[in-house]
Amino acid sequence: MDLHRRAFCAGLAGATGLALARPALAAPDVLTAQKATVQLAPDGYPATEVWSYGGTIPGPLIRVPQGGSVTRRLVNDLDVPTSVHWHGIRIANAMDGVAGLTQDAVPPGGTFDYDFAVPDVGTYWYHAHTSSMEQVARGLSGVLIVDEATPPDVDRDEVLMLDDWLLDPETGLFAEPFAHPMMMSHGGRTGNLIGVNGQYAHAMQAETGERLRLRLINAANARIFGLKLEGMTGWTVALDGMPLDAPEPVSGEIVLASAQRIDLIVDITATDGPAGLLMSLDGDAWEALVEVTLTGTRAARDTAPAPLPANPNTARPDLANARTFDMVMEGGAMAGMDSATYQGERLGFRALIAQGQFWALSGQAGLSDTPFAALKRGEVARVRLTNRTAFPHAMHLHGMHFREVRADGTMGPLRDTILSVPNAPLDIAFTADNPGKWLMHCHMLAHAASGMNTWIDVA
Ligand code: C2O
Ligand code: CU
Repeated sequence: MDLHRRAFCAGLAGATGLALARPALAAPDVLTAQKATVQLAPDGYPATEVWSYGGTIPGPLIRVPQGGSVTRRLVNDLDVPTSVHWHGIRIANAMDGVAGLTQDAVPPGGTFDYDFAVPDVGTYWYHAHTSSMEQVARGLSGVLIVDEATPPDVDRDEVLMLDDWLLDPETGLFAEPFAHPMMMSHGGRTGNLIGVNGQYAHAMQAETGERLRLRLINAANARIFGLKLEGMTGWTVALDGMPLDAPEPVSGEIVLASAQRIDLIVDITATDGPAGLLMSLDGDAWEALVEVTLTGTRAARDTAPAPLPANPNTARPDLANARTFDMVMEGGAMAGMDSATYQGERLGFRALIAQGQFWALSGQAGLSDTPFAALKRGEVARVRLTNRTAFPHAMHLHGMHFREVRADGTMGPLRDTILSVPNAPLDIAFTADNPGKWLMHCHMLAHAASGMNTWIDVA
């Protein structure tokens, strides 16, 4: 089960990276959720039957200009109900795609018209939000990019969607069951095969001196990627779609938790040695996730990149009038909890487990009839996250970005997903300026499915 990248490929001497076809610029008007057979594993292994958007992994690249809108008819050709969530978009609530909260799941054979304005530029993604733990793991995700009116000065813009899949190497099928108690109670469903843009190995070509924008998206169900740059220097220019006030030089390890995005601008500095994006597998060994082959040399720019233009409506929340809420994260293996409320009933830990619930947020497992916080439009909310579990959790808020409030009172960058680690309290704040019912949950999707899921109401 815990076969990792190298083990999976053992015996495949000389397996090489495959260049990817560049995603098409224009996406079809229809987004079909359908089965497809795709070669996720390296050549020599069986192909995988996936659930996909449009027959590819990732789904079609959706790219719209700043101030534009996205119009897609979801056609459900699967045998199960589904819906699409547009992760990180400050969207109109009815378009948020959360089955059971913002819409009914679309039955097999059914359709749903998504049509929404995109207020912000940046790197976003879309994925299923009905039985997400299984549907996202089976492949239902894709990239959504909103382009600046004036793009930054780079030679190329590359999208790198990082993912992992838990496959049976004998059959190429996804390992079952998806609702595995061991995964739900521990770190989530972690794949035994890591890929970029839907393939086991993703290779890129570049010239020494070239400046690239790299848009990294972690689409994995649970994996936290530890990354570093080799043969290139770079700056972080945006997180979770939102531009930083100023580019920040990358030094050391980049941590990208499930659902997070990071936009880098990098200069290729290698002249002959290796270059690429390296991934840490077990904390000490580094291995190429994206290999860059050098094809020539050009004059390097000698200035740091300019900041990306700020998105609208991104003022820091006014903490003076904030209402504070405590979100205590409990449960899981090695920590557990005494009891929690599930579907209106107070249950002990064993009874919760019998219901497939391993986690709770402030004593509530899964969604309740009443929201975790009922906010008035424009109100500032401050949520203090206390992680009493033995695991990290990638906490995601729908519909609005938030900022970490640091101990010294300064605020971090805008994010829609933040990594909470055990025993390190996190304080986040946001202005509740988007009306509707917004989910807040762990983006380790097995955790969300087994209790770590709540909602906030903005009236
Ligand atoms: Cu990326 Cu609730 O989702
Ligand atoms: Cu979690």
